[in-house]
Amino acid sequence: MTNETFSDRLKLAMQAKQFKQVDLIRAAQRRGVKLGKSHVSQYVSGKTVPRSDILHFLADVLQVDPDWLLAKDSTVNYTADTVSDSTESCSDPSAASLSQTKTGGSPMREFKKSSKLDNVLYDVRGPVVEEANRMEACGTQVLKLNIGNPAPFGFRTPDEVIYDMSHQLTDCEGYSPSQGLFSARKAIMQYAQLKKLPNVSIDDIYTGNGVSELINLCMSALLDDGDEILIPSPDYPLWTACATLAGGKAVHYICDEQSEWYPDIDDMRKKITDRTKAIVIINPNNPTGALYPKEVLQQIVELAREHQLIIFSDEIYDRLVMDGLEHVSIASLAPDLFCVTFSGLSKSHMIAGFRIGWMILSGNKAIAKDYIEGLKMLSNMRLCSNVPAQSVVQTALGGHQSVNDYIVPGGRIYEQREYVYKAFCDIPGITAVKPKAAFYMFPKIDTKKFNITNDEKFALDLLRDKKLLIVHGGGFNWGQPDHFRVVYLPRIEVLKDAVGKLTDFLSYYHQ
Ligand SMILES: Cc1ncc(COP(=O)(O)O)c(C=O)c1O
Repeated sequence: MTNETFSDRLKLAMQAKQFKQVDLIRAAQRRGVKLGKSHVSQYVSGKTVPRSDILHFLADVLQVDPDWLLAKDSTVNYTADTVSDSTESCSDPSAASLSQTKTGGSPMREFKKSSKLDNVLYDVRGPVVEEANRMEACGTQVLKLNIGNPAPFGFRTPDEVIYDMSHQLTDCEGYSPSQGLFSARKAIMQYAQLKKLPNVSIDDIYTGNGVSELINLCMSALLDDGDEILIPSPDYPLWTACATLAGGKAVHYICDEQSEWYPDIDDMRKKITDRTKAIVIINPNNPTGALYPKEVLQQIVELAREHQLIIFSDEIYDRLVMDGLEHVSIASLAPDLFCVTFSGLSKSHMIAGFRIGWMILSGNKAIAKDYIEGLKMLSNMRLCSNVPAQSVVQTALGGHQSVNDYIVPGGRIYEQREYVYKAFCDIPGITAVKPKAAFYMFPKIDTKKFNITNDEKFALDLLRDKKLLIVHGGGFNWGQPDHFRVVYLPRIEVLKDAVGKLTDFLSYYHQ
């Protein structure tokens, strides 16, 4: 037992992180937490202690345990009225108190993350999700419409894939060639032929631990400090995060909700400078569910041609296209340009956990000789991708595609899309563009009606009030606080429950 107070602990933790009072206020603003100057100074001076939610916020920002911060191990007692709204923390109080002080009470050296991560954002698993995890750890059930992970929603891996993997497991104990097994790359090459990708040999195919690893690899190999790359807004935020981490500058072009969320070509053009090296497109799109027609792709190719840019096309949802539409790979329209096309089995074969994706280099590879050397170097450095997962690529890409049953009338993804689109559009204050592919929708909120100025706060308030988890638009590098993403993988009964909760929430919510 010590006789330290909350104020002592707060000061210790602030000192350890080199935080001033203003840093706490700024962090609160960023997260949409109401925390004024006077509150913070009262906490620091020991005049008062915060409510439970503010306590958790402070503990989170200062990376200490809430119980430790509250000095629960101290002999100093707080009376009930000083600790208003206090709820028990579900985390282990001993861990933080041990890690934060050494005998004698002085703070221990703390290890900070690299400043390279300062501007990196990945809110799909960010602070709102952390709050949801905290709530779940305390026994609260949270309805999650936040992550595109098919398996937990009952989308099972095709039996043949599991059967084939189990039969090959003992042959997969060693490393494979760095770019991947011959059989896997051959199957991907044949797939590339069907999609009419020009000038692709087996050497142009790289398997990865999901598309995620390859996005990181491509950005690291390409971008020098200050190099620019055009990335959509909204985006799948890994693209922006990896470009930033590599030292590049992610320049966002707008996708236009008024035009079915297609890329705004004029905006793209305006944002090209002499430092621009590449254009990223995500087609079919996460988070909007858009599918780009050939005419739009052609305009992007022309722009890339005019300004000599590489095209990176993330096509992980290319087999999840509805309404009888056809997915066109942009690389098939650009034999004279250097293109990199990404896809994998996480979504179409419901094996996101197995970690298998690939990238295909196509078109004019001569202009990218040096870059390709960089890609090979990074590919060698990670040795190889998951070999058991590579062993099922051939099976997965050949024969009957069970995903096709989900995306036609009567199929789960199709029917869930129909339901979610109509039900959301029926909620007063919500509008949406009907998604054509993947399993996401990016609805718009009437911010005036609800006086919403902070979309992360909207997501947090919805979570706390209704135990419903969505991702706010800002998490996808969308500049206005007026959108959020819904994953419509859950069954219709569950989606109905979510719609009911959101409708009720919006009947009283005002920011
Ligand atoms: C557009 C997009 N690209 C890439 C990924 C990552 O996929 P993988 O599981 O292959 O790493 C995702 C996952 O949600 C995605 O939505």
